[in-house]
Amino acid sequence: MTMATCITHSPEETFALGEEWSRSLRSGEVIAFAGDLGAGKTQLVKGIAAGLGYDRRVQSPTFALINEYPLTELSLFHLDLYRLETKQEILVAGLDEFLIEPKGVTLVEWPERWFGPAFFELNEAKSGFVAAPETGVRRVFLETLGGNERRLVYEDIGV
Ligand SMILES: Nc1ncnc2c1ncn2[C@@H]1O[C@H](COP(=O)(O)OP(=O)(O)O)[C@@H](O)[C@H]1O
Ligand SMILES: [Mg+2]
Repeated sequence: MTMATCITHSPEETFALGEEWSRSLRSGEVIAFAGDLGAGKTQLVKGIAAGLGYDRRVQSPTFALINEYPLTELSLFHLDLYRLETKQEILVAGLDEFLIEPKGVTLVEWPERWFGPAFFELNEAKSGFVAAPETGVRRVFLETLGGNERRLVYEDIGV
């Protein structure tokens, strides 16, 4: 697993990055998107879903907690843990099966709710995460730099 950083300058550019990432996804993998509201987490998910051939509406499951996008090749789960404050609440909601060795690919927004905020802490140079990687989880940290600029720091397994 290698680290990468990039800056995108438009929603389309972020979407295209998601499309590119979709080619490297394997069933059982979790991609965790951390970042403030409007940072572009859902925009990346949209690109990934489109890259996998899903051509319908994608939006954060803020109230539903989970969306499943049916695909022929694999199951794609989209979680939004914003409304769940503790790990216990996530367990009670029955979402752990999508976070631990999922039977498909899980894309999760507000993953700190499950993994804890320290897991997404960046080092001072902002070129990587402080915490060690976790098997089966790819971290993506998004930051709004201003206007349409977004900085993405992520673990890249390469295509
Ligand atoms: N470079 C960029 N990448 C992603 N989104 C961008 C970018 N520039 C502007 N935006 C806008 O920022 C918003 C991101 O929203 P969204 O993806 O829903 O964020 P989140 O899910 O992190 O709350 C959208 O309105 C999008 O058009
Ligand atoms: Mg979102």
